[in-house]
Amino acid sequence: MDAQRCLKAFLCRRFTAPVEAQLRQKFALEVNHGDAVMTPAQIVAWAQGADVLFVTATEAITAEVIHALQPHLKIIATLSVGFDHIDRAAARDCGVKVLHTPDVLSEACAEVALLLMLNACRRGFEADRMVRSGAWPGWGPTQLLGLGLTGRRLGIFGMGRIGRAVATRARAFGMEIHYHNRSRLAPELDGAAVYHASVDSLLAVSDVFLIAAPGQPELKGFVNRDRIAQMPPRSVVVNISRGDLVDDDALIDALQSGHLFAAGLDVFVNEPRIDARYRTLDNVFLTPHIGSATHETRDAMGLLLIQGIAALAAGETPANLLS
Ligand code: DGY
Repeated sequence: MDAQRCLKAFLCRRFTAPVEAQLRQKFALEVNHGDAVMTPAQIVAWAQGADVLFVTATEAITAEVIHALQPHLKIIATLSVGFDHIDRAAARDCGVKVLHTPDVLSEACAEVALLLMLNACRRGFEADRMVRSGAWPGWGPTQLLGLGLTGRRLGIFGMGRIGRAVATRARAFGMEIHYHNRSRLAPELDGAAVYHASVDSLLAVSDVFLIAAPGQPELKGFVNRDRIAQMPPRSVVVNISRGDLVDDDALIDALQSGHLFAAGLDVFVNEPRIDARYRTLDNVFLTPHIGSATHETRDAMGLLLIQGIAALAAGETPANLLS
């Protein structure tokens, strides 16, 4: 712990109060008090001399940043399970360890997947607007008819910890679970879900297609025109991963043409300046990247990073170490 107390740390965004209280006790801490997203150049200027850099998915931790913070920087700790914002090759080259926050956010993210799925299928945005705007004429037998989840097939692209947490909840809604991963899960993990060796085969049966695979450069634009065309008519796309897995032009065209019944999106290309066309579509339910945004989850994520750093200081290998 003493070794850790001497570490100089820079906090790029404001974490929850309980986490920040611990950070102040354990590190010589400098903070980006205003919480504005920092550019790589600002990080380099403000975090000089830091041994530990606390970041989130909003900071681009490029090779330039990592190199410019040498020889001091030893650990990058990201308050996210995703790590596509960090140049891991550069971190490896410089001997910098990268910690992230798996597991502790799986339930919270799964809840948001269900929130998106339910609101997309049951027309949550239109329903809320109708009541709020005073335009509700009263109950009607054909008013705001949506798609029920019961009996529908949920296709999960990326059946990791979050995907499996979604599957557990979707089963309780009576959905049939299908998934694609590079390899089939062990029977004790798959919950009797149907494995598809190819994405094409998964798409063809997905009444609801959930994107839960981790963001990575190779998956940029993965949900494109061809893949959407393979989905059944009046199906639904839900994205809780990273916005760039979806080709916005293709998704918007399919929502406008009616091939897709709806979409539920928590993540976007170029957040927060999303494609403005999404705002005009009634059949999209939008949330602002809130997958892990619960008090208890964000506390747990911060504490996991602190534990990981303590483990590294003690010469151990924490489970949340990436490289
Ligand atoms: C994650 O944990 O990766 C979330 O998307 C928040 O960044």
